[in-house]
Amino acid sequence: AQLPDLVIVGAGLFGLTIAERCAEELGLRVLILERRHHLGGNAYSERDPETNVEVHKYGAHLFHTSNERVWEYANRFTSFTDYRHRVFGKYQGQVYSLPMNLALINQFFGKSHTPDEARALIAEQSSEIATEDASNLEEKAISLIGRPLYEAFIKGYTAKQWQTDPTELSADIITRLPVRYTFQNGWFSDTYEGLPVDGYTAWLTRMADHPNIEVRLETDFFEVADDYKGKVPIVYTGPVDEYFGNSEGRLSWRTVDLEESVVDTDDFQGTGVVNYNDQDVPYTRIIEFKHFHPEREKTHLPGKSVIVHEYSRFAEEGDEPYYPVNTADDRAKLIKYRELAKAEPMVLFGGRLGTYKYLDMHMAIGSALSMYDNKLKPHFTEGAELT
Ligand code: FDA
Repeated sequence: AQLPDLVIVGAGLFGLTIAERCAEELGLRVLILERRHHLGGNAYSERDPETNVEVHKYGAHLFHTSNERVWEYANRFTSFTDYRHRVFGKYQGQVYSLPMNLALINQFFGKSHTPDEARALIAEQSSEIATEDASNLEEKAISLIGRPLYEAFIKGYTAKQWQTDPTELSADIITRLPVRYTFQNGWFSDTYEGLPVDGYTAWLTRMADHPNIEVRLETDFFEVADDYKGKVPIVYTGPVDEYFGNSEGRLSWRTVDLEESVVDTDDFQGTGVVNYNDQDVPYTRIIEFKHFHPEREKTHLPGKSVIVHEYSRFAEEGDEPYYPVNTADDRAKLIKYRELAKAEPMVLFGGRLGTYKYLDMHMAIGSALSMYDNKLKPHFTEGAELT
């Protein structure tokens, strides 16, 4: 069979962006290899067949960006709703508005505070420990927001996220813990925000809908690598350690177990995301997907709702890698993998798995556009070397 001009491993947002640009702008014949049964990577979603509610299969995905170019690019394939993300947090039988803000402070301390009064209160409570003296995550958090807010809103949640007591976690996991001295409770503070009007999968499918792009699903690159390695340029967006046979050891990740259920109520929690801050509640969050699309209310089956309980833990072999743990040991391995990657002829590594970095969707698109501009386009139009 004839070789394509470019092979892309992984049909996530990074791979799709590269494929679309190379096919549309350079006229290249692009082959995408994807080992899952669907394209879209972790942004993939499906309508639940019973309720017709769109479910994000790899965890809740909310699109937001302040990058004009990424926003303009994404809008070529989908329009976005005016959804604004808000998060609430449960603690000891009360529900608070997150991120930490004046409403939360007033409710938690049972008294109204002006912004200045609240600032003074938190300054006093956080003076217990100097930030530069903090030797673990707990001390760092107390030095930033004081002990009462730390114990209610950070301690239990963090312990569940990491399955580790915060006194055993490194102080540099957190750099800041923003407290807003206003009632503003939008979760993101980007210029643009919204959800794809007809769903993630429609958006992602349109990106690959080009006569020059072939998507081969349920195909693991490693089973066909010999057909392409060294013969055509490859953009690899799978795990970097796996590419090199874990020669430097495995990089560590956290994963999330997502337990999906259909409940017999029209409205389970009144909003899309509720965090559970109490340590004795085993899950970290409950997502109720219908609230992401209030404009679709009439299309949802009445009397039912789809919810997902999220449980966070360290990933083992075979688990979905979601968040890089990024210990000192991981960073040392990553340096070695980066050297190997640089020396690998005709292969570029990208995306969240290929670079071992948590990337939001807009960052995955943005970094793919940069790789296209800086490496692929110069290679295919001017013969520049691919490194
Ligand atoms: P992605 O992981 O999507 O795609 C990589 C693809 O490569 C996968 O489909 C995989 O199957 C395939 N692959 C790997 N190895 C292969 C092989 N050997 N052969 C063939 N195929 C292979 N972002 C945001 O902006 N807002 C949000 O709310 C969220 N929420 C969120 C929740 C959770 C739980 C996670 C883990 C992540 C988010 N994100 C997010 C981030 C978002 O998921 C991320 O930006 C994109 O998935 C990045 O796209 P990539 O293409 O880099 O990777």
